[in-house]
Amino acid sequence: MTHKITAAITAVHGYVPDYILTNQELEKMVDTSDQWITERTGIKERRILKGENKGTSFMAAEAVKGLLEKSGTNPLEIDAIICATVTPDMLFPCTANLVADMVGAKNAMSFDMLAACSGFIYALETGASYIQLGRYKKVVVIGADKMSSIVNYKDRTSCILFGDGAGAVLLEPNTEGLGVIDAILKSDGSGKDLLYIKAGGSACPITEENVNSPDRYFFQDGKAVFKYAVTRMADVAEEMMKRHHLVGEDIAYLVPHQANKRIIDATAERMGIGPEKVTMNIERYGNTTGATIPLCLWDYEKKFKKGDNLILAAFGGGFTWGAVYLKWAYNS
Ligand code: ACO
Repeated sequence: MTHKITAAITAVHGYVPDYILTNQELEKMVDTSDQWITERTGIKERRILKGENKGTSFMAAEAVKGLLEKSGTNPLEIDAIICATVTPDMLFPCTANLVADMVGAKNAMSFDMLAACSGFIYALETGASYIQLGRYKKVVVIGADKMSSIVNYKDRTSCILFGDGAGAVLLEPNTEGLGVIDAILKSDGSGKDLLYIKAGGSACPITEENVNSPDRYFFQDGKAVFKYAVTRMADVAEEMMKRHHLVGEDIAYLVPHQANKRIIDATAERMGIGPEKVTMNIERYGNTTGATIPLCLWDYEKKFKKGDNLILAAFGGGFTWGAVYLKWAYNS
């Protein structure tokens, strides 16, 4: 049986900075406790990128260099680089442009994608579409964020959640029916007042008046966002399973965005799968926004088997949310 061209993940790699910010260290910075953070979020520690002038592109380039090395890919063969991030090095040029230069991908078109915590699955679907069209043969999709650059370390409700990191996958054409099978991506911009950074864009530029205000930093109404996230991530994962007549036993792994262990558990329960089928690294990395899903793929790569059914699911700022159904394409 011949299959149409699908886009398969043929390699995955990641990068996290060395510096570990523990719950104990946060206890010294804000009025919080290891117990509260662990019980409410599942997070024990997160990585922080230190070093002057080091931005998201540094971590993304490290992830891509490792990806190219392990897959034996010549950077000149890369057709496109898409970087999902909410923390670009600068407004422009985009971070994907910088990464292309840093890894020597001189023939690649490159651009950033901003869909907050859903950014990686948005970028994955976009990259996969170029391959399915037959337009490109090698597409690198990155999820990378330096959340420490937009987190207010005086706000205990948010500073405990986030960390820095980057993950990248290589997409190539497949004719065995493996790779990205389907994506359901959704958005609802009316969530803009519940999860956002107020200042720094064109509507509210940084001025002398607001330069030291909390408006420059990440803000969310955590309780409200939690309610949306917990229902919508589960809804969309269930919708994907129904669309493909999948039941819990058919799923090898759920690869969820790592925002809160309670949201992940609720999604897995709705899908009818046990904790052994859920990829989780939130306890070590916290919420790295665009990077959570590729970092999970990297962490669990050796456990995945060729043909495994994976459901990737995310919810984040916008609101944006969605699920991707893919068949893993290789054994490590
Ligand atoms: N340490 C101790 N106490 C705290 C802390 C803290 N770090 N933070 C808040 N509290 C207190 C609150 O002040 C509150 O006290 P009160 O009852 O006296 O008023 C109490 O703990 C409960 O606060 P809640 O906000 O109700 O806590 P909740 O259980 O909702 O957990 C959390 C907060 C972890 C933020 C949760 O709401 C959450 O995970 N929300 C969703 C996050 C998410 O999915 N975001 C989307 C992705 S992010 C992106 O797109 C970039």
